[in-house]
Amino acid sequence: MTVTALTGISQLVTNDPAHDHAEAASGPLGVVRDAAVVLDGDRVLWSGPAANLPSSTADVVVDLGGRAVVPGFVDSHNHLAFAGDRSDEFAARMAGESYSAGGIRSTVAHTRAASDADLAGSVRRLADEALRQGTTTIESKSGYGLSVDDERRSLEAIGTVTREGTFLGAHVVPADHAGRADEYVALVAGEMLDACAPLAKWIDVFCDVGAFDVDQSREILTAGIAAGLLPRIHAGQLAPGGGIQLAVELGAASADHVTHATDDDVEALAGSTTVATLLPGAEFSTRAVYPDARRLLAAGVTVALAADCNPGSSYTTSLPFCIAVAVRDMGMTPAEALWSATAGGAAALRRTDVGHLAVGAAADLVVLDAPSFVHLAYRPGVPLVEAVWRGGVRVA
Ligand code: NIG
Ligand code: FE
Repeated sequence: MTVTALTGISQLVTNDPAHDHAEAASGPLGVVRDAAVVLDGDRVLWSGPAANLPSSTADVVVDLGGRAVVPGFVDSHNHLAFAGDRSDEFAARMAGESYSAGGIRSTVAHTRAASDADLAGSVRRLADEALRQGTTTIESKSGYGLSVDDERRSLEAIGTVTREGTFLGAHVVPADHAGRADEYVALVAGEMLDACAPLAKWIDVFCDVGAFDVDQSREILTAGIAAGLLPRIHAGQLAPGGGIQLAVELGAASADHVTHATDDDVEALAGSTTVATLLPGAEFSTRAVYPDARRLLAAGVTVALAADCNPGSSYTTSLPFCIAVAVRDMGMTPAEALWSATAGGAAALRRTDVGHLAVGAAADLVVLDAPSFVHLAYRPGVPLVEAVWRGGVRVA
């Protein structure tokens, strides 16, 4: 196996508490100045001050010339399997129209008409776009097929790029079941789940106005858990409701959006292992009020940041963009936002191998064309991702 030493790192973010002492202000980021990292195959073998680099055995030495290195981003919420474009809807919103969950149905029509190859191509294109912006672990949901066969095809396409696949048959009631929501819920929790469970790790429900209510969501998630899937929930994006408490009740890995969390919701999250995943791309693209990350952090809730890439409410794959918005408009410090886009995303996916650069972690990292991670928010819109390493190999 190739041993690679990366040297010349001005600032290394490890997210490793073992490095907390290195820089007083870095907190859980475990920042090391003038650092080096050694990769052994697909794992981190060593990290620390370059002055302490073991005089060894690296097959290859790469001098990064004074750049910052951060863990690869872990993007825990996306909808990559779709066809079509809703830029007209976006333009209408920017002219004053409001967002509604019903727009999902127009993407469903395009997705059903797409071939398997087109669906796989769309997923691949977006996963590659995310990778070039530093996302080395990506989750994706189905949810634009909404029939047994089209949900299965969507998850097969997702399975070609990630093992973090999520069955979201309960995205909205499709037009072919208009007025028959209970029948659709039974289909999702029955035949559709049977076809999709072998292809997914997670099950998700859009629990919100215009989508599914708490009882319907509980029925579907409970069936998914019985089929061996792990629960996560879209909740509180458009209005307050019982979805966040349902996430806690079911031990969900994550409650996502949570823009309209009540005080009771925040308290429930704080006393749980459920991560609050914030998706600023959605508020940006629907011109809605951003979630208050500071309120969640102050209560002790674990917060993740994710892109929510989808054609309706957040057509971005860029975690640097989400970090910049979270810092500017959601009350996060640059350090908190970076932690949430790396270690926070890993927590939301219940992964311990990614989201940090401690010894033994996946050799997934991002080289920034900047001396400090703060530049991710300080220089918004600038393509600072100089290189991406995944599994110990430079991939972008
Ligand atoms: O996460 N909230 C539900 N699903 C997507 C929106 C989907 C759409 O509008 O197509 C979201 O924002
Ligand atoms: Fe979503």
